[in-house]
Amino acid sequence: MKMKIAYIPGDGIGPEIGKVAVDILQTVANKYGHEVDIKEYDFGGIAIDNHGEPLPKETLQACKDADAVLLGAIGGPKWAHGEITPEKGILALRKEMGTFANLRPVKTWEALYDRSPLKTDRIKGVDIMFVRELTGGIYFGKKTRVGDTATDTCEYSVYEVERIVRVACEIAMKRKKRLTSVDKANVLETSRLWREVTIRIVETEYPELELEHYYVDAASMHLLSRPTDFDVVVTENMFGDILSDEASMIPGSLGLLPSSSQGDSKTAIYEPIHGSAPDIAGKNIANPFGMILSMSMMLRQSFGLEIEARAVEDAVEQMMENGEYTSDLDGIFSTSAVGEKLCAMLR
Ligand code: IPM
Ligand code: MN
Repeated sequence: MKMKIAYIPGDGIGPEIGKVAVDILQTVANKYGHEVDIKEYDFGGIAIDNHGEPLPKETLQACKDADAVLLGAIGGPKWAHGEITPEKGILALRKEMGTFANLRPVKTWEALYDRSPLKTDRIKGVDIMFVRELTGGIYFGKKTRVGDTATDTCEYSVYEVERIVRVACEIAMKRKKRLTSVDKANVLETSRLWREVTIRIVETEYPELELEHYYVDAASMHLLSRPTDFDVVVTENMFGDILSDEASMIPGSLGLLPSSSQGDSKTAIYEPIHGSAPDIAGKNIANPFGMILSMSMMLRQSFGLEIEARAVEDAVEQMMENGEYTSDLDGIFSTSAVGEKLCAMLR
């Protein structure tokens, strides 16, 4: 198998966790006889510094030409107040790549049960797939600032809702055939449209699915009180952003969760759900598991390499069982030490 990867480490802890994932990818490729062509490109704050824009043309073209994109994280205080921000780069990348479906799996690992702020009996067996709409909603609507007033517009079309709901339905059909849709239909017009479209798609195209609806406020509470009730959750861009960060506390750390973003084109983007954590950047203490698991999602989803993906995930789990992890989980391993140990296990 030949894999052409565009690697965009970004800012903050991005390059530290990214290096670990790239080393592991290389190790897996060597071991299983695959060829990886991996090239690194500036993206985010570093690209603002080097090129004056967060998503340089060359980076975007490289991402489009690649089989898959591996992204670390972007952003930091240095660029937070400028006219051009790293965040604009990630939104532009998602839009340009057409990656409207962001999959964020949340599960718990037995070895980490006592690392979770929640009681073990609540979190045992949690296995949720968040399907977050990624290229629409309030993130992309018109923004204004006139005098002392600011606005953000939230907009969704029927087409945008249909396509994300279909992705969620397809996933639900392969799991427990249960779908939870999260909205705020008691207040928002976009949510009323969301709910109407979701009901229609499920009734007409996936009648076998059991569909339930939650308002986002209630969903955020139930996510902590009885997380095992959820299986596949589909929701709009901002609700998905917030709920998935909240859900990361179920396994115990924001640093654990991977994601993939896909759309119509062959190229998907793989990135951990966490940010660039500028407060701990450069200290070699960031948890690389979310990044590593994003890479294993890539092996499985973009390249169909189930055995290889499983090998990486098993090695991660083994390290969790050995207590070999970073300080966010009360471990004593550095970021690079996690990477070295994992590579040694995979070899
Ligand atoms: C995420 C991040 C981004 C988002 C930021 C960096 C724009 O929080 O991927 O969840 O809000 O989508
Ligand atoms: Mn987020």
